[in-house]
Formats: sequence, C-alpha cells, structure tokens
Amino acid sequence: MADEIAIESMLKERRKFKPDAAFSRQAHVNGVTAYNRMRKEADKNYQRYWARLAKENVTWFTPWKKVLSWKPPFAKWFVGAKTNVSYNCLDRHLEGENAWRRNKAAIIWEGEPGDSRTLTYGDLHREVCKFTNVLKGLGIKKGDRVVLYMPMVPELAIAMLACARMGAVHSIIFGGFSAESIRDRINDAEAHTVVTADGGWRRGQVVPLKNMIDEALEGAKTVRNVVVVQRTGQSILMKDGRDQWWHELMKDASPDCPAAKLDAEHPLFTLYTSGTTGKPKGILHTTGGYLVHTTVTSKYIFDLKETDTYWCTADIGWITGHSYVVYGILSNGATTVMYEGAPNHPEQDRFWEIIDKYNVTIFYTAPTAIRTFQKWGDEHVKKHSLKSLRLLGTVGEPINPAAWMWYRKMIGKNRCPIVDTWWQTETGGILISPIPGAVTTTPGTATLPFPGIFPEVVNEAGKPAKTDEGGYLVVKRPWPGMLRGIYGDPKRYKEQYWSKFKDTYFTGDGARRDKNGYFWIMGRVDDVMNVAGHRLSTMEIESALVSHPSVAESAVVGRPDEIKGTGVVAFVSLEKGIEASEKLQAQLKQHVAKEIGPIAKPDDIRFTDALPKTRSGKIMRRLLRDIAAGRETVGDTTTLEDYSVLAKLRDSDEG
Ligand code: WTA
Repeated sequence: MADEIAIESMLKERRKFKPDAAFSRQAHVNGVTAYNRMRKEADKNYQRYWARLAKENVTWFTPWKKVLSWKPPFAKWFVGAKTNVSYNCLDRHLEGENAWRRNKAAIIWEGEPGDSRTLTYGDLHREVCKFTNVLKGLGIKKGDRVVLYMPMVPELAIAMLACARMGAVHSIIFGGFSAESIRDRINDAEAHTVVTADGGWRRGQVVPLKNMIDEALEGAKTVRNVVVVQRTGQSILMKDGRDQWWHELMKDASPDCPAAKLDAEHPLFTLYTSGTTGKPKGILHTTGGYLVHTTVTSKYIFDLKETDTYWCTADIGWITGHSYVVYGILSNGATTVMYEGAPNHPEQDRFWEIIDKYNVTIFYTAPTAIRTFQKWGDEHVKKHSLKSLRLLGTVGEPINPAAWMWYRKMIGKNRCPIVDTWWQTETGGILISPIPGAVTTTPGTATLPFPGIFPEVVNEAGKPAKTDEGGYLVVKRPWPGMLRGIYGDPKRYKEQYWSKFKDTYFTGDGARRDKNGYFWIMGRVDDVMNVAGHRLSTMEIESALVSHPSVAESAVVGRPDEIKGTGVVAFVSLEKGIEASEKLQAQLKQHVAKEIGPIAKPDDIRFTDALPKTRSGKIMRRLLRDIAAGRETVGDTTTLEDYSVLAKLRDSDEG
C-alpha cells in the first residue's frame, strides 16, 4: 500500500488566499489572534476545551460527571449528562431570549417541479411533536430502529427529529439504493418501521420509492409498519395492515410531546457506508458528542449567523446531509435550504436560480458538482447575480485546484472564502478545514485540523511522516463526534479502524502534510472508491457481479475520471460457454444497478478469460488499475482479452 501513496505526488500549489479583512472583522473567529487563542486552549487541554464549547453551545438537562471516558477504542463523551438533539434543534429556539425564532424560517424547501414550502421553527416543532406521537402510536420504543427511505422533502427532517425526540434510532437509506440494498440494511438494523414516500422528483421523472420498498420488504422479516408520505401522487400499492399514509396518521396526532431526557451516549442514528468488504457497515453515532461536534463546527467553519440562509446540496441520505443540512444547522437556529431534485432541471442553472431566489448566503457542495458546472459552461452561472453569497464550502473528495479556482471566481466572484472540509461518515463532523476569516487557503488543501482535533500523517510503522512525505492519515485522540462502533459488530469496528496503529484511528485515506502543517488528502488507500463523492467498495460491486449467473469471477478497480473523480471499471471472466457481447455488458451494468443502486453502475466492463493473479492467487489490482486508466493498452473492451499474459510478465513485481 505504501507505494500507492507515494506514487501520487501532487503538483506544488503556490497560490495563497489570505482572509479578507472585512470578512474577518465580522466572523466568529475574527482573525489569526483569535484563532491561535482557540488552538492554544485546545492543545493545552482538549477535554476542557470541548467541555467549554459543549456548555456554551448545547443545552443539557443534566450536566456530565466526566468529559471523556476513553478505553481505546471505545469512547464515551459527556459521561452521565442528559440532553436531546431534537430539543436542541427546536424547543430551545422557542424559549427565553430566543423565543422570537418561533417565526423564523427553519427549513426553506424547494421541490423540483418548482413548488416551495417554508417551515418556521414553530411549524417544525409542531410537526415533529406530532410525528413523534405517531411513532409512539405505532409501538416504537426508545432504542428501536426506524428506517427512512425518502426523497428530499421536509418530512424527512421531521422524521429524523421525531426519532431523536423519543430516542428511536433512525437509519436513513439514500433514495438511490436498490431493493436488494434496502433489504440488507433493514435486516441488519432489525427495523420494525419504515418511513417512505410514494415517490420523489428527479429530472422531471418520478423515482418510485414505495415500489422499491415493496420489493425490499419481500424477505425482510422484521418490518410491521410502513408510513408513506404522499409526494408524487401516482397510484401505489397500500398493503392492508402494514402501510399507512403519513397525512392520515398526522391528522389527529397530538402536538404535545416533550423531548425525552436521553443519556449523552444514547444512540442517535446508524448510517450504512461502504467498507473494504462486501457488506456495508452500520456506522453508529450517539447523542451528546455528535450534537456538540456538529453544532460547533457548523458555527465556526461556516461562520454561521442568525441572518444566514445556508444551503448544503447534499442528500440527507448521506452523512453530509445528516450533519450539515439538518442537525448542526438547526441546532444553531439558522435557516437551512433543502432542494429536492437535480441540478439540471429544468435547466442547467437551477442551483444558481435557487441561490438568487432565496438569497442564499452560504453554499456547501461537492467537487464533482463543481466540475460538472464548469463543464456545463459559465453562461448558466452568469444569468444570475449570486450577490447574496458570502461563503463557499466543499466536501466529499479532493478538489483539484482548477475546480477550486473556478468556484472561487465564477461562484464566489473572488469575494467569498472557500472552506474545503475533510471528514467521513465515521467522524460525524468536519475534522480538517480552514476557519474562514483566520486561515490562509490554497487550492487543493483542506488546510488545518479544527482546534481540538488531532490528526497526523504517519508511515507504515506509525511514525510521523516527514514534511511532504505521503503516508496514512490517522487521528491520535478521540473527538466528540466520532463513531461509537459498527452496529452489531464490535469486532469489525476494532479491526477496521483501530488495528493498523495502536490506539489510533485509521481513516483509510492517504495524505501528506506540507511545511505549514497543511493537510493534502490524496484519496483512499484501501479498497474503497470515491465515485462522485459517494463511497463504494470494490468488493461490494464484485459480489454484485458474481451474483449474475453468467459471471465466474470479477475484479473492480477505479480509474481517474474528469468529472466523477473516480470511475468504476469491472474486469469480468465469464462462466464456460457464455459469450462476451455488448448486450451482456449492458445487462451486467443493469444488474449492478439492481443489486446496489445506479450510483454503483460500472462505467466500463471488460471481459477477460482469466483475471491476472499472482502465484499466491491474489488479484493483481495494480495492474488492473493501470489497464483501466489506459496506462497499459490491451485492445478494445468487449472482446475477451488475455490479461493473464500481462500478468505473467508482471508476476515478479507484485504479491
Ligand atoms: C473523502 C463524506 C479530500 C475521503 C463527508 C474520506 C475528502 C471520504 C474530503 C469519506 C475532502 C471527504 N478532501 N477527500 N475535503 N472530504 N473526502 O464517508 O476519502 O461519504 O475518507 O463522508 O471522502 O466519505 P464519506
């Protein structure tokens, strides 16, 4: 693995952007001095520092007895304290000196067809209380898992906050996952209840979510109730005794529902993400630490203010949507924008139209999206003023300097600071990012750790790498938002994150640190691919492929892709007597889409009569990566190719 990190040496990027003085003056962290003070406090005693932030930014029903209990790899934060995430996101904005927020927009929602809804904090609170009572009426108890498979509609946020209110554990499944993937996740979570919608709008088409759930539930044994939001209105199956309409259940629900006083370590949600094996992992996050981490990072990294209209374009089905569409933003009492649909519907300027329509001030999106906009052309952007924007952010994958510069110039009009935020499903919240107004930025680097977070780049032996030397990105000390485990699988939790280096969290990313201490993320060093900012495991796609009757064996690798960052290439050897054909190629792509979801569909399928292997039987992935990237040519794509010849040639240098 180490050689793989070393090969990716980035161009030395020298452009520097100092914080703008006017921005700094108004910022929460109003310059280098304030920033250094924060860092010094955190370095001196990180537990005391987090405790101060927890006290100042979160409301607790009962204070903690101990800030941190750390028995590696198991952490407990704010031990003994009681709080409630839903209370922090809602009730506290309706009380005391904040009571005026009752009529402030909490969620501004834009549907793809152009319909729109605004829910004030008062509205959202009422809807959440009612839905919590609905859940209780369905027999859901504290600690039960509730699966949410929904479009980007306000009801999704309402359902999350309702679960959090009573201590049920939500498990959101991204609307792009197929029935097979949903079934696996429901079974793993042993959920009794699913909340879904008839459909959602995407590029003018209905995504038939309820049909997908019906298919998934054949063979999912635990589910007793399905609650269905009516969004798209087409006729769907409503199974007697199992399926009920959201609006009918809500009609008579009581709006009176105090938030449960939950232990700081009470589970808040699980979220499935791809690991290095075929089986997705249910990443577990808990209440107090996650709330502190997302609240505080939202405030300082986005410089979030009372007057901001903040828009993160991520789907709530991913961690970014959990932490920075819903929890961190509402906990700060800010206004969050939610958009249901595609960026190119009806035209390629939809995002810019939305920014002008609602006067969005903070905009957070993915590098893949930025590269796509760049390709679509400047004319779409130039139709809109974007003058309300004051800060931009990116997340999900490394951003190439050209895209960063375009983002700064075309969207930010050279006026808005950019925060390149590095984090993971597992970290719960942002760990590495500039603090706007204080940290000088350079395109392509997420810059410095958030104060109170202690990442490092280490070599194979676990020793700190030298300046600019590539190595493994690790985190040396626990942090409040860290995952508490993998649902139902403590062994895998230990192996996956804590076995490579002692008592140190291994991220799976490669990185280098420059002479200013800035972190340059170089991408995954394990068998996880980052495709358009979505995590996919090579093994997961491989097992989807071999579940097709024509496939004997497969190996999946990533290749550089101008827009998506990484594209998916599958090498497939077929069962005896099966002919390679373009038709089969298309069928296999479709098969993967059905097994996992359209996001996992290979860009390219290459047939071979044998996969190149070392003498010990290991698939030579490095060779396949070279072939996939075109660094090694072996002719066209649909015919059978004998990669084993190349393999024999290379046999000596791998394995
Ligand atoms: C990658 C998304 C470079 C990284 C929040 C990480 C990034 C994985 C950045 C987690 C960034 C995320 N620069 N790479 N700013 N942000 N990544 O779990 O490889 O979907 O390990 O969480 O995305 O993806 P996940």
